[in-house]
Amino acid sequence: MSRSDSGESDLPQNAHHVGSEAELERGESILAEVDGIEIAVYHTEDGYFAISNFCVHQGGPLCEGPVTGTLGQDDDGKLCYEEGTQVVRCPWHGWEFDVETGEHLSRPEYSQPTYDVLVRDGEVYVRW
Ligand code: FES
Repeated sequence: MSRSDSGESDLPQNAHHVGSEAELERGESILAEVDGIEIAVYHTEDGYFAISNFCVHQGGPLCEGPVTGTLGQDDDGKLCYEEGTQVVRCPWHGWEFDVETGEHLSRPEYSQPTYDVLVRDGEVYVRW
């Protein structure tokens, strides 16, 4: 993710407008279509992130899945709930992906494609 408020004039040619910061409050997501490709754009505590909406398993619509934390292990090996990692769960079969990296939680070889997000003057763009 990148962020700059220096104006639209320095936008790269491959930046596509997907919404405004007002439409995409922290904790929210929007579905964008860029050149026929569906991209899910998320606003997390750490910024804006974009991943393919087409689940790498069988094409489920990720943007329709819940975004939550996930289970992890503490220093003693006990299961604990990690709120810091934002995970989207595919609504079709439950595969879980890190919203910020697109990685499948246990099988990184099945990660989702990710895209850079830019913010200029309150508007959100995905680089494609
Ligand atoms: S299509 Fe997403 S988990 Fe199966």
